[in-house]
Amino acid sequence: MTKRGRFVTFEGGEGAGKSTQIERLARHLTALGLRVRLTREPGGPKDGSIEPAAALRKMLVEGDPARWSPKSEALLNYAQRVEHVNRFVAPALAAGEWVLCDRFADSTMAYQGYGHGLGPGFVRALHRATLGSFKPDLTFVLDIPVAEGLARAGARAGVDTRFERFPRDFHERVRKGFRAIAKAEPKRYALIDARGSAEAVEARVAKALAKRFPKL
Ligand code: TMP
Repeated sequence: MTKRGRFVTFEGGEGAGKSTQIERLARHLTALGLRVRLTREPGGPKDGSIEPAAALRKMLVEGDPARWSPKSEALLNYAQRVEHVNRFVAPALAAGEWVLCDRFADSTMAYQGYGHGLGPGFVRALHRATLGSFKPDLTFVLDIPVAEGLARAGARAGVDTRFERFPRDFHERVRKGFRAIAKAEPKRYALIDARGSAEAVEARVAKALAKRFPKL
């Protein structure tokens, strides 16, 4: 029987440098001879192959910040997640691949649970009802002061800026949420200081990876 792959997620506020770090980790794991798939939420892989998830991403990240009520935002994120997990993540893991995902369920907890104030109970219940006990093997939480992250994110051009336009205090609550989630379960989460050069952050990620998977 094929050995199940590992599910590793990257989390953090706007402009924390997740995409850079996930690509670097993918190169590192590939060089070790592992089969690696890159994906993201909301939306699934960038090629849009998980069509309903890609369609929901567009609805979530574009348009007016007030487009969705917080509850709808949480439900839509879980709708795309169910499609993404069932059609992409779970089959890849079963085939022995490592799946690296840019954001996952902890983003719903931090953004909708903490940022919008729906509360941890609501998000936990939603997760259990839709995905049961399915969770990542390891989650990196890239932590950066809100002002620094928003400045970095703002330097990127694009239409997917709906969340960046939420007020500063929303992003402060998101950061607080991520830090609380990571600290509550230090075995499954690695809280990474995302300030400094990409190389410095990459070294911190590598250290945490080796700690979680010593046999790699
Ligand atoms: P991205 O900019 O990292 O691609 O993510 C898109 C935005 O979606 C980001 O601002 C965070 C937000 N988001 C949520 O609010 N809840 C979620 O569950 C997910 C996955 C993302």
